Amino acid sequence: MSHQTVLILDFGGQYNQLIARRVRECGVYCEVKPCSTPLEELRALDPIGIIFTGGPNSVYLDTSPHVDLDIFSWGVPILGICYGCQLLAYSLGGQVTPAQNDSAREYGKTVTDYDTSCVLFRDLPRQGVSWMSHGDYMVRVPDGFRLTARSANCPNVAIADETRNFYGVQFHPEVNHTENGVAMLRNFLFRVCHAAGDWTMEDYKHTALAAMREKIGNGRVLLALSGGVDSSVVAALLAEAVGSQLTCVFVDHGLMRLNEADEVEAAFSQWNVNFIRRDASARFLDKLAGVEEPERKRKIIGEEFIRVFEEEAKKIGAVDFLAQGTIYPDVIESGAGNAAVIKSHHNVGGLPDCVDFKEIIEPLRLLFKDEVRQLGRELGLPEYLVSRQPFPGPGLAIRIIGGITREKADLLRRADFIFRDEIAKAGEDKRLSQYFAVLTNTRSVGVMGDGRTYDYTLALRAVTTDDFMTADWARIPYEVLDKISVRIVNEVQGVNRVLYDITSKPPATVEWE
Ligand code: XMP
Repeated sequence: MSHQTVLILDFGGQYNQLIARRVRECGVYCEVKPCSTPLEELRALDPIGIIFTGGPNSVYLDTSPHVDLDIFSWGVPILGICYGCQLLAYSLGGQVTPAQNDSAREYGKTVTDYDTSCVLFRDLPRQGVSWMSHGDYMVRVPDGFRLTARSANCPNVAIADETRNFYGVQFHPEVNHTENGVAMLRNFLFRVCHAAGDWTMEDYKHTALAAMREKIGNGRVLLALSGGVDSSVVAALLAEAVGSQLTCVFVDHGLMRLNEADEVEAAFSQWNVNFIRRDASARFLDKLAGVEEPERKRKIIGEEFIRVFEEEAKKIGAVDFLAQGTIYPDVIESGAGNAAVIKSHHNVGGLPDCVDFKEIIEPLRLLFKDEVRQLGRELGLPEYLVSRQPFPGPGLAIRIIGGITREKADLLRRADFIFRDEIAKAGEDKRLSQYFAVLTNTRSVGVMGDGRTYDYTLALRAVTTDDFMTADWARIPYEVLDKISVRIVNEVQGVNRVLYDITSKPPATVEWE
């Protein structure tokens, strides 16, 4: 069944996939297309509405991305966000310049007054906080437009031409910091574009299945399976799309959690899929010996994974595709487009330059974690798999700070197991999004029995989050923390001090490396 489509034209902003996600949350199908896409291709989507995204450029520069003016004659409603708003104004005859003084540049939370007679702000409060991030200023808006929102420093925070259904906002309605931002997007989608709002994750599943069948054809595909949520969802998707053409390869790199490799094997051998378990622990630990720098660790692991998959593919023969469970936060944090590199997730920034597969397929590349879980449920995956806490591909390698040894990995495994065990016993596991132990490379003095110890400091990390782009540290009851700490120092030789990490993301990240 075909669905109404909203076209999101990508001008390189940081939040573009977040806009797409918000549109999907409203039950409306959308496609994000680069702004360089030929106009005929965009027209062929037959969009009911178009959103111009933000972007890092200034519209008045020749080098900045622009849009073919023909798009304005389609009779399709347009919403411009940030750069998209300035582009709308500039393209239709307005004037945009660099802000003359600091106060006209706006970054962060800004109190904004809205004209609620404009359909974009209808039925919403007249005032609210909006999230701004722009250094340019619309000095003159084009003919036919009126100003529909203002802040203390800026009289033209939003513009509208209600006859042609063109709207522009300088702020970002898609981010949580903008009060009622989603309601504004809903007004655009439902009151301006008259979207039906009947698109669901089930539709996404059908679209993804059809796309995978078309891409893979009669070919063979090897899936890099870690047993985590993302790769398990890809396994379910590909199993349904291409059945026995799929082989799932689980590589044990020696840095899994306690019993994990056996558990993954037990879970997947019950499925009707080709499953291979490969023990590559010796060679991974060998390559990682003496490596301390986190980015180096990720690159080594990313490369080694690929080499093992290539070897397995050769054994199967004629494998064209390598599938991965990459999701959107992996892509953006690895520095996609203009975004800064936060950490090179092993499956994105950690990939080697040369890969011996015709193509890498990543059906979840545009989804956020909670959407992946929803898709997993649609595909009929058992709840225990869908709601599992994530475990990063590089495993304990990025939870052992500094150099990695088998002994350190064993020590961390035992401590991490105790942490998870006590969290489950306390019934806290459902509430926490992710929780694990980290072996720091700090040692400190302790006293045990009557003797001095000089042992490792272990850190516990537990967070709550929806999408893993931001996260809060979890308020675990003191009694539970106490039990965990007592058990770890008593049962794990080599640890004499336990810390609890009380930092949110940002400014920290979830993992320590
Ligand atoms: P950060 O540390 O970036 O973590 O705040 C966000 C989420 O991503 C996971 N993570 C990774 N997953 N390969 C993965 O498959 C990686 O290199 C990687 N680094 C972080 C992390 O466990 C958390 O769920």
